[in-house]
Amino acid sequence: MNNKKPLLETKNLKKYFGGLKAVDGIDFSVQEEGLISIIGPNGAGKTTFFNLISGIMKPTEGRVFFQGRNITGWPPHRLAGMGLGRSYQITNIFPLLTVLENVRIACQSAGSDNYKFWQHHKSFSVYEEKAREILRRVYLEGREEQLAMHLPHGDKRKLEIAIALAREPTLLLLDEPTAGISTEELPELTALIQEIKELGKQQILLVEHRMDVVTAISDRITVLNRGVILAEGSPDEIMENQEVQEAYLGGGGAA
Ligand SMILES: Nc1ncnc2c1ncn2[C@@H]1O[C@H](COP(=O)(O)OP(=O)(O)O)[C@@H](O)[C@H]1O
Ligand SMILES: [Mg+2]
Repeated sequence: MNNKKPLLETKNLKKYFGGLKAVDGIDFSVQEEGLISIIGPNGAGKTTFFNLISGIMKPTEGRVFFQGRNITGWPPHRLAGMGLGRSYQITNIFPLLTVLENVRIACQSAGSDNYKFWQHHKSFSVYEEKAREILRRVYLEGREEQLAMHLPHGDKRKLEIAIALAREPTLLLLDEPTAGISTEELPELTALIQEIKELGKQQILLVEHRMDVVTAISDRITVLNRGVILAEGSPDEIMENQEVQEAYLGGGGAA
């Protein structure tokens, strides 16, 4: 295909919890290709794989490369600074601040001139404007002044994505962004992920259990089962794959 260095690459990546092989030798790579989904039954190792990539856990064995650099064992904040962004469930939100303040602070912390913010009123308004723009993109326009703690669940998930976007990541990791949201909220959340992809500034790695969402927006799908890659391919190829169907039926994690 092309011989450009992959954006992200894992080599023989493993994470064992005692005798449990949560991730058991994953060779995986992401080029500039839009949106890749990782699917698989409950307990397949998807979240653990994300934790290894984003520096939350250290691997038992194997290596992770980002933009050609060996980043194995690097802490999350250092990876975030390099452009590897992740939406953390709820924990990243300041509940007592407004929606706008949450995103503005994330914009500031990403800005290279963030120390100057205290001196220049001008940069404050730059970050605020950027935050408003991001909130429009995630369909939170009109919610700016609301306290984050008062947002309905679906809107909190959007705010998490907004905070991740504020750092302008090159690679955005989303772990089940639709978890716990209602059927009515689903189209908007799906649309906003699709729009992030179409804007083309971020490559997206998505863990998602709703197959309708995954097949609609993925350029490629990787299927994990019991810590290993079971299959990789286009949405059509994956849907037709017999082994994948059996893993879902046998694994109890059918969606
Ligand atoms: N911190 C942990 N300590 C022990 N076992 C864990 C830990 N995190 C995950 N596991 C186990 O690893 C396996 C994979 O979990 P996980 O990566 O969360 O799967 P998925 O996200 O695909 O549902 C599961 O059996 C889970 O119980
Ligand atoms: Mg998970």
